[in-house]
Parts: sequence; structure tokens; C-alpha cells
Amino acid sequence: MTTLDGLAKYRSVTEGLEGVVATSTRLSHVDGEAGRLTLAGYTVEDLAPQASFEEVAHLLLHGRLPEPVERARFAKDLAGRRPVSPLAIAVLREAAAAKAPPMDALRMTAPLLSLGHEENPLEDAMNAIASFPTIVGAYWRLRHGEAPVPVRFDLPHAAHYLHQLFGAEPSAERARALETYLNTVCDHGLNASTFAARVIISTRSDLISAITGAVGALKGPLHGGAPGPALDMVFEIGTPDRAETVIRAKLDRSERLMGFGHRIYRVRDPRADVLAQAAERFYSTGGDQSLYDLARKVEATALRLLHEHKPERRLDTNVEFYTALLLHGLGFPADLFTPTFAVGRVLGWSAHCLEQLRDGRLIRPQSAYIGPTDLHYDSGPGRAMV
Ligand code: ACO
Repeated sequence: MTTLDGLAKYRSVTEGLEGVVATSTRLSHVDGEAGRLTLAGYTVEDLAPQASFEEVAHLLLHGRLPEPVERARFAKDLAGRRPVSPLAIAVLREAAAAKAPPMDALRMTAPLLSLGHEENPLEDAMNAIASFPTIVGAYWRLRHGEAPVPVRFDLPHAAHYLHQLFGAEPSAERARALETYLNTVCDHGLNASTFAARVIISTRSDLISAITGAVGALKGPLHGGAPGPALDMVFEIGTPDRAETVIRAKLDRSERLMGFGHRIYRVRDPRADVLAQAAERFYSTGGDQSLYDLARKVEATALRLLHEHKPERRLDTNVEFYTALLLHGLGFPADLFTPTFAVGRVLGWSAHCLEQLRDGRLIRPQSAYIGPTDLHYDSGPGRAMV
């Protein structure tokens, strides 16, 4: 068969699987035309700013919000799983000595969550969700020559993460802002990292392997790695009057503007709105309001120039632009933006894994071979093994 025959056989190759529906889910629905995100029945605008992270975790893992008694029991169960093993701390210490990026440290430590436990998907999910903040927090402190702070069991999930990072109990406003962020990003259809997790678990592998793979997928700048560069762009612009010149120059150099564009959304990502509102609340009560105003100007200019640059493809603001602004306002350095995304998204990965184990088939698509077919192996002297 020739190369062309191969292509003809698979007439409908869909590069990047764009538009391909590969599974069904009850967890979240991304309506890219309307700009709507539904999390297990609730709009992101309704759920994220009001619910606790623990409630959202119960919703995604068990299919409904918890009753009050269940809520307390579930939160206590989750909190009890926060400590990580001495081996995990030793790995984090080595990673810190090697100055590893925090996403790499998380990817090195996540697999250790299966050590000493019988494989059990729900237990693994709870352990991963509970311990990601401890891992990232401990790593960040070790990386800066500080000892990890002891785990607290009395703080809610988002407040505990802030405590692990900064060593102090956060104000209610800071904890609420972070909780809104974690809820906003906890799940988002079949995005690249969730797909990676579902592919792995679809082979009947274990949940910790699946979330380890997902951490790797999230790291890339086309997925979860965008908010750092998005904030860099705002700082590079510096003052509103430079926005047009700097952004135009980037587009002229065919650079992508980080924090804009999305595979599914053709209108503004609704998560950007939820986070913009949270950021505005936060910045107007004590943050650097001029940075917030600059970011709004950068956003407006970027949208106008992207439309000029690519009129045929609607490129709008995505979640990462306001992630950067909100997390920066909360005192997070850019290196922690993607790991903090993982602290929220590990919930979605886990819930998808449980769903895939319950209802899914092995995920095994095909590829269209476009290489040569008529070559012959020459076993002559030139090929002799050395
Ligand atoms: N800036 C400039 N041009 C862009 C941008 C952007 N942000 N996004 C897409 N384009 C252009 C591409 O260069 C491409 O142009 P071409 O046809 O001339 O080559 C065209 O629009 C289509 O781009 P694709 O890469 O095919 O679109 P895709 O759906 O694969 O990409 C993606 C989606 C990766 C998010 C893209 O918009 C992008 O790179 N954005 C910047 C990175 C970013 O913000 N990532 C975070 C996404 S949100 C998340 O994952 C949580």
C-alpha cells in the first residue's frame, strides 16, 4: 500500500482531535459557542464563588452536593489525608537542591502517593486531592531554604494550602479568593490533561499513575503553563500607553499571546469572568489597583489586535489571563501558578478516572500512516553490527 492509499483509508483524520467527542461525562459541560461551563449541573458562575472546595469535591466524586452532616464528615476525611510520607519530603528536598521547577517536583512526588497503600481508586483520589497542597507548599518552602510547616487539620482546604505555602493563617478574603479559583478550574470537559488521565486509567491502570501523567500534560504552555507568560506580558508592557506597540510587535513576530484563544470557546471563557470578578474584588480592597487597570487595558488591546490579526478565528480571553492576575494578587509567584492549577484540577482528574473506571472503554484511537512503505532492509556489510 502506498502512503496515499493509507491516507485515503482514513479520510477523516482530525488533527488534535478537534471536535471529536471521545466519551460521555456527568462531570462538566463546556459549551464553547455560548461560553457556558456547567459543573455537574451548576453553572460555574453560581457554584465557584459560593461553594466550599470540599462541597465541590463531594459533588464531583459522589454526583451531588453533600448534606450538612455529610459535608462535615467528608471535610474531616479529606483533611485527615493531608500529611505526606517522609520519602515524599526527601524527594522534595532533593528536587529543591536541584532547583527543579515546581511542576517537575509535583510530578516526581505524585507517584509516591501509591506507596504503602492497597490500590483503591476512591481512596487514591481522596489522598491525591488532600495532599497536592501539602506537596506544593512543602516544596515551595524547601526551595526557599525554609522548613515545611506542619500540616493543620482544622483549616478548610483552600486556607490550608495558603498556610502550607506562607506559614500563616490567611484572612477569610484571601481564602475565599483562592477557593473561588480552585472551584473555577476543578474540571473542564475533556481537556488535554484530563484526557491523558482517562487514557491511562482506561487501560485499568491505577489512579495515581493517571494523575501523574495528567500533571505532565498540564505543565505545557499551551495548557496549564500559560498564566506565568501572560503576567510577564502585562509586566513587559508596564504602562497602558505601551500596550498597542508591544502586542502588535509580538503578533508581527508570530508569537502567541498567552491567556488568549481556546480550542473550544469561540466567545469569552466564562471562567475568565468569574476570576476577573474575584480579582476585581480583591484588588479594589487593598491590592495594586493600577496593575488591575493595566491588565484590563492589555486585555482590551489584545482582543482588538487579535481580531485584526486573525479575523477568521475568534480568539478571546481564556481562564489563564485572570488566573495570573488573581494569583499574583494573592502573593503567589509565577512559578506557583501552574502547580496551583494542579491543586484544583486534581479533583477533576480524579473524578474523571472514577467515571472512566465505572463506565468507560479502553481508549485506543488510530493513526493514519503517512510514511514510506516500499523500503527494503539492506543486510550488506555496511550494516554490520559493531
Ligand atoms: N495568540 C496569537 N495567535 C493565536 C493564539 C494566541 N493566543 N491562539 C491561536 N492563535 C492562532 C494560531 O497561531 C493559529 O494561526 P495559524 O492558523 O495562522 O497557524 C490559529 O490561531 C489557530 O490556532 P491553533 O493552535 O490551531 O488553535 P488551537 O485550538 O489548537 O489552540 C490554544 C488553542 C493552544 C489554547 C491556543 O489558542 C494558544 O496557544 N493560546 C495561547 C496559550 C494559552 O493561553 N493557553 C491556555 C489555554 S486555557 C487552558 O488550557 C487551561
